[in-house]
Amino acid sequence: MTKLFRCLIFVLCLLLPPGRSAAQVAPLIANINARQTASLDGQWQAIVDPYDVGALDYRAQPLKNNHAFYKNYKPQSESELVEYDFDTSGQLHVPGDWNTQRESLLFYEGSVWYKRSFDYTKSPKNRLFLHFGACNYFAAVYLNGEELGEHEGGFTPFDFEITDRVKTNGNFLVLRINNTRGIDQVPTVNTDWWNYGGITRPVTLVEVPQTFVQDYYVQLEKGSTHQIKGWVQLNGPQLQQTVRIRIAEAGLAKTVQTDSKGRGEFSLTADLTLWSPENPKLYTVEIAGETDQVIDHIGFRSIEARGTEILLDGKPVFLRGISMHEEAPTRPGRAWSEDDARTLLSWAKELGCNFVRLAHYPHNEAMLRMADQMGLLVWAEVPVYWTIQWENPRTLHNAENQLNEMIARDHNRAALIIYSVANETPISDARNRFLRQLIQDAHSADPTRLVSAALQADQLVDRNRMIIRVNDPIASDLDVLGNNEYVGWYVGRPEDTDSIDWVSEFGKPMIMSEFGGDALFGYHGDARTRWTEEYQANLYEHQLAMLKRISFLQGMSPWVLKDFRSPRRVLPHFQDYFNRKGLLSDHGEKKKAFFVLQKFYRELQNAPPPK
Ligand code: GCU
Repeated sequence: MTKLFRCLIFVLCLLLPPGRSAAQVAPLIANINARQTASLDGQWQAIVDPYDVGALDYRAQPLKNNHAFYKNYKPQSESELVEYDFDTSGQLHVPGDWNTQRESLLFYEGSVWYKRSFDYTKSPKNRLFLHFGACNYFAAVYLNGEELGEHEGGFTPFDFEITDRVKTNGNFLVLRINNTRGIDQVPTVNTDWWNYGGITRPVTLVEVPQTFVQDYYVQLEKGSTHQIKGWVQLNGPQLQQTVRIRIAEAGLAKTVQTDSKGRGEFSLTADLTLWSPENPKLYTVEIAGETDQVIDHIGFRSIEARGTEILLDGKPVFLRGISMHEEAPTRPGRAWSEDDARTLLSWAKELGCNFVRLAHYPHNEAMLRMADQMGLLVWAEVPVYWTIQWENPRTLHNAENQLNEMIARDHNRAALIIYSVANETPISDARNRFLRQLIQDAHSADPTRLVSAALQADQLVDRNRMIIRVNDPIASDLDVLGNNEYVGWYVGRPEDTDSIDWVSEFGKPMIMSEFGGDALFGYHGDARTRWTEEYQANLYEHQLAMLKRISFLQGMSPWVLKDFRSPRRVLPHFQDYFNRKGLLSDHGEKKKAFFVLQKFYRELQNAPPPK
């Protein structure tokens, strides 16, 4: 690039009016589907930009001129040089990962630019927000050539206020999405799931009054089955209002005065039909302020850990679960829709489940709301997975942010009972400090739910007596212990479980959050032959017999509902970049072990309830 041209760029930069400072990610608006919305989903223009030429010049300096792709600039004359054009660059569907939309993008990690033009007539007295269900991993968002802001984290929602930035006609929204893995990120560079990139969940315009009900919390108080305790948070100029909370069907109404910060706390005694997997009762809850009202469908249940028991609505419950990834049931790629959720959770119900572990990151909101409707208890998790940079304050802040965003989105879902702050993380002082901070954050953000983590006790402490001891120091900070073990697959043979006993000094309930083995659907042989359905079924038989003997076991979520894509699984024919530990194939075909677990769960359901 000639010296002259560089000077030209420099001058031009000076000439351009300084951009308005980037808007920050706005406080999360709860329950957007109950608001006045317009969807921006559909086909978006997209530019695949592996070298980030849309953001950086050849000196890797940020571009601010018309060469920056977010300007969506068109040559003004036949002689003007512009080296990008959204409108002739092909399309990608939103929501959706880019990896399964084009063969050439299956393994792609890097930047992709998305552009969506739209017109929107906003009522003059209202405010307007852009809401993203999730973008993996890093999103920079621009509207009409100006930066709105950024978001990091691939599995939680965020929004930006665009009230005084939107035009009636000719808006262009541009996002740079980058899913390059980074050692200091959450998750970090190594995962056993596909690093699907893109705008993976719905994009929505949300129109609200000047002062609106931004968020609310309406749940039973910890340990109570009749005392509702909650709060309302307003956002806008008129923060002190009278807000009424009404549950007409239960004959309940309560008014609360919000304070100068727009917050109002309330509690009321209620005689409600409690939510449970057997009876997933949801009530219509109205939150009506003087300027805005929101309606939600909320179930009421209490959840506690007492000794080694988990109590749902005051009664001991055994969690008959399955772990699952957020992959679409009958097509490749990320799941995001209600239909996806209904199909995946129906398979879990068919297994006889009353519980699902949504691994290893916050799944989409449709999944949580579907679990509410279908009656499935939920373990939700943040992607603090394997070896994270425990000493890095930026990594901790990122993990805390993802945890808070997850809790903020789902804290009114009755189905959601457990927040998991980590999966299979190596014990160290730095790790313990990191996780203790997250555990504290979860308890303070939501005191009514249980906090857990998937620990990893699978080492025999006494070969002669075949004992596995749960001895992770972080267990003392958790309400419920989760534990992953792979006896019979990564450790020993399936039969070894017959003589293994488990001990724990923590006096807390444990969920066996993972166990299992791989099988290729349709591959048959004797039970000693790896990858056969018979091997997997045999492993389950032995595992379930062992689990029945663990006195403090209050649940399980075998690994995993369905075969899923993983870049770590490279064995031809048997894996082909799929983890094959599913009880269903990636086409939804049931393997033998599916029926082994189904039979076990049916027996548990028909067994007389524990004393
Ligand atoms: C781990 C991990 C999973 C992984 C599984 C496996 O325990 O938590 O993410 O897929 O084992 O190895 O199949």
